[in-house]
Amino acid sequence: MPGTQPTGAARLRAEDLTLSYEQRTVVSSLDVEIPDRSFTVIIGPNACGKSTLLKALARMLKPRSGQVYLDGAGIAAYRSREVARRLGLLPQSPTAPGGITVGDLVARGRYPHQGMLKQWSADDETTVLEAMRQTGVLDLADRPVDDLSGGQRQRVWLSMVLAQQTSILLLDEPTTFLDIAHQVEVLDLCADLHARKGHTVVAVLHDLNQACRYATHLIVMRPGGTIAAEGDPATVMTAELVEDVFGLPCRIIDDPETGTPLMVPAAPQRYVPEDLAARSTGPGVSAGSVMAESGRGVG
Ligand SMILES: Nc1ncnc2c1ncn2[C@@H]1O[C@H](COP(=O)(O)OP(=O)(O)O)[C@@H](O)[C@H]1O
Ligand SMILES: [Mg+2]
Repeated sequence: MPGTQPTGAARLRAEDLTLSYEQRTVVSSLDVEIPDRSFTVIIGPNACGKSTLLKALARMLKPRSGQVYLDGAGIAAYRSREVARRLGLLPQSPTAPGGITVGDLVARGRYPHQGMLKQWSADDETTVLEAMRQTGVLDLADRPVDDLSGGQRQRVWLSMVLAQQTSILLLDEPTTFLDIAHQVEVLDLCADLHARKGHTVVAVLHDLNQACRYATHLIVMRPGGTIAAEGDPATVMTAELVEDVFGLPCRIIDDPETGTPLMVPAAPQRYVPEDLAARSTGPGVSAGSVMAESGRGVG
């Protein structure tokens, strides 16, 4: 196969990757490697290229230059079905065929496993039911996807990707639209797939603290589509990095539950109307005072 890699390289990696939409280049000359069996979390500001990178890793976007390697060979060399058996992608904004029911959409996750000779089996049925059970959408099986709430729909899509039964999962913002209990449920499910089944999970998340809790490998992207830092969240996540990449002054403390880094944004400087300022501090504070030094320091 073309582009054969040395043994020992990660199952999913990209070399010298440049990704563009027409004239706009989003990612240039990026090298990235997803550690096998890791729970890798990608964080970074809006529009820095996280979704673009994930699409390229799943072969949904053809690189302008460079190459993605899957299991030692250039991903472009595989048949589509072969990619879909190894790697599942939950895109950021998937669209369902109009009128499709939840059960039918999740069943589509089995397509890569079907074929001319292999028809729908009891195994497929069990896998689909299990995927719906794991994501809590079994009760919705007969409902049209269009009628669901954003959070329900998100879990249905995740269910479809699980039904695909791939050992690599790429999840673009799998917790968006979910209430906090469902966010934790989905992340626990991902952690379980990683820890118990040895799956490689890559998720784009916005919540830095959830990222630090769940990631075994954290990739921080900065505007311009480069990697600002990567590795163990405990060493990667610093106040300097958050300020640098997100422009947000903060403190990093220990998460009281897990001991992982907990990012606490600095308190904003508040505008205090004159009468309130006078009441709380007495005379000498001018109108429109700003209560400065209110913890804006970066610790
Ligand atoms: N289909 C597209 N066509 C043109 N530009 C796009 C397209 N998708 C994304 N972009 C642009 O590429 C940049 C990176 O987008 P994206 O990868 O979605 O960022 P992120 O996921 O980090 O928020 C943004 O400036 C966005 O506007
Ligand atoms: Mg995105």
